[in-house]
Amino acid sequence: MAMKSRILIVGVTGNLGFELARASLDSSYPTFGLVRDSAFSDPNKSKKLEILSHGGATFLKGSLQDEARLVEAIKQVDVVICAVNSKQVLDQRLLIAAIKCAGCVKRFIPAEFGSDPDKTRISDLDNNFYSRKAEIRRLIEAEGIPHTYISCNFYMSYLLPALVQPGLKAPPRDKVTVFGDGSVKGVFVKESDVAAFTISAVDDPHTLNKVLYLRPPGNVYSINELVEIWESKIGKKLEKIYVSEEEFLMKIRGMSVLK
Ligand SMILES: NC(=O)c1ccc[n+]([C@@H]2O[C@H](COP(=O)([O-])OP(=O)(O)OC[C@H]3O[C@@H](n4cnc5c(N)ncnc54)[C@H](OP(=O)(O)O)[C@@H]3O)[C@@H](O)[C@H]2O)c1
Repeated sequence: MAMKSRILIVGVTGNLGFELARASLDSSYPTFGLVRDSAFSDPNKSKKLEILSHGGATFLKGSLQDEARLVEAIKQVDVVICAVNSKQVLDQRLLIAAIKCAGCVKRFIPAEFGSDPDKTRISDLDNNFYSRKAEIRRLIEAEGIPHTYISCNFYMSYLLPALVQPGLKAPPRDKVTVFGDGSVKGVFVKESDVAAFTISAVDDPHTLNKVLYLRPPGNVYSINELVEIWESKIGKKLEKIYVSEEEFLMKIRGMSVLK
């Protein structure tokens, strides 16, 4: 039987990274976490580390700013998965250099876990959110590093719990804002499922040097469909306030002017 890859996860104390480490351990992969010193003295993060440690994870101290420790950690594994948040996307440049230097990595999965940055068009209002992720893709490809990009669309814990109503924490019971005509579909995937799919791709030759799109048919809904489901649950029709694309873009532009 083929040996299971050894997996290094950067960001195991974070939201997705913790789920990735759990999924990796659940699938019996030798699992390593690159952990910053500061995490051990943070009560919430050390609780997560304790859970993973009981599950069999090994922690290697280091950070995305420390190349020597990165290379040392990477030399112990076959696969690297990075789960730093979107603000730190470009910090992966040193990780890529370290992967190249270590020369042993069979697959790198960078921090993406959203919409495909090569396909998403977002009216120049995203503060380079997608272009930074695309820049990391180009760097990985230029260095000839084997990779898989995970395109999972929305996490279920974002937007969906408040029925896609920015600023709300729970679904509304009187009025609901519908963007456009409400018919455009979104994909919502639970973080633990994103993690499980990611780990299942690690040793799968079909996903090598490809984008893996997560689009479970039962997880695809438009705002109109979501509102209808909510209305049937609470037994009440909501007042719909329609906001056109033009109005919505104007609002966002207004907000960035105010910042
Ligand atoms: N599709 C969606 O709806 C959606 C929503 C949110 C996020 N995402 C994506 O999910 C991925 C993970 O984001 P997240 O929200 O789960 O992140 P997060 O909770 O903020 O966790 C970030 C992790 O990265 C670690 N980290 C940060 N800087 C580091 C450094 N310099 N060196 C080493 N480790 C470092 C942190 O460690 P410490 O504990 O030491 O700080 C933490 O473990 C990203 O790709 C993001 O774009 C997608």
